[in-house]
Amino acid sequence: MKYMDLGNTGIKVSVVAFGTWGLGGGSVWDDEGVRAKASDLLDAASDCGLNYIDTAPVYGMGESERLLGAALKGRRGKFIVQTKCSLNWRENGGKFKYARDGFTVWNNTGAEAIRKDVEGSLSRLGTDFIDVLVVHYPNGAWPVEETADALEELVKEGKIRAWGLSNSTPAILDEYSKHAHVALVQEQYSLLAPSHGEEFFPSCRRHKTSFQCYGILEEGYLTGPERLSDKFGANDIRSRLPWRQEPRRSGILSLYKDVWAPMAEKYGCSYANLFEAWALSQFEGMSLLTGFRRVKSILDTAKCVGLTSSPL
Ligand SMILES: NC(=O)c1ccc[n+]([C@@H]2O[C@H](COP(=O)([O-])OP(=O)(O)OC[C@H]3O[C@@H](n4cnc5c(N)ncnc54)[C@H](OP(=O)(O)O)[C@@H]3O)[C@@H](O)[C@H]2O)c1
Repeated sequence: MKYMDLGNTGIKVSVVAFGTWGLGGGSVWDDEGVRAKASDLLDAASDCGLNYIDTAPVYGMGESERLLGAALKGRRGKFIVQTKCSLNWRENGGKFKYARDGFTVWNNTGAEAIRKDVEGSLSRLGTDFIDVLVVHYPNGAWPVEETADALEELVKEGKIRAWGLSNSTPAILDEYSKHAHVALVQEQYSLLAPSHGEEFFPSCRRHKTSFQCYGILEEGYLTGPERLSDKFGANDIRSRLPWRQEPRRSGILSLYKDVWAPMAEKYGCSYANLFEAWALSQFEGMSLLTGFRRVKSILDTAKCVGLTSSPL
């Protein structure tokens, strides 16, 4: 495994981070049967040198954090635990975000809501501090100063060590960076949808902010051509991505056949590793956040750091 500094915080994280949205299950990841036990996933992560875990209160409405909390007992110190704030299902105000699995999710970046989010996460994760807290969706309805001050207050109190932003823009990063250091931005980025990275890299360099990509495997569609024929429930995230619709589907299948299959064979690696290695080569402060519910996905992904330069 390779390690990197998260922003300028001095926090050392593995370049591969373990994403646990799928671990939370629910209708958005409806093939729950494939989920391994969280403790087995953490064992595999640890064996491969992965020390960085990402979760969020809304992943399974607390379920991902609860499962992680139980699996972290007795080994909390071995992992850098990152969770999020700003999305909640408390029914006490905010901007409507979505309704799912019988819950309504609200987006609130006010100081009081962030503090409540953190208390909830600390309790579900069974820990007295969170290493990194990410604002899941910055929300212009509250002043940036209020949100940044609330986050800095939590740092002073020792409840969090660092914080970042997700689903934002370079202008929002500039705005937050006027108040304090933003350790990372967590943004959607893949070979099929690279625009967020390209817009963010110059600002990230300027602010010494790490860029953490999510969705690098397009929720599994970039792990093999057969995945484009998988069937999922209507609420499942994979039903909502555009890659199975024509003409994209045929275009992606041609790329598999004509470009990616020969490359995977040449490098002796999985398709996942091709795209993961590509992402790591695109930005010097790249944190590769990949989602895992199976041990074999962790074991395979860890190999991508051995592919030294961009194969694509
Ligand atoms: N901030 C946000 O708004 C936001 C949004 C989306 C995601 N995220 C975070 O980013 C993480 C990653 O994104 P994601 O999980 O949505 O998508 P992803 O990483 O693009 O894809 C995850 C899928 O890829 C599969 N996979 C992973 N490694 C593999 C390998 N080596 N070989 C074959 N299959 C492999 C996983 O399989 P198995 O699950 O079967 O192991 C899972 O189905 C999330 O878990 C979450 O922590 C954040």
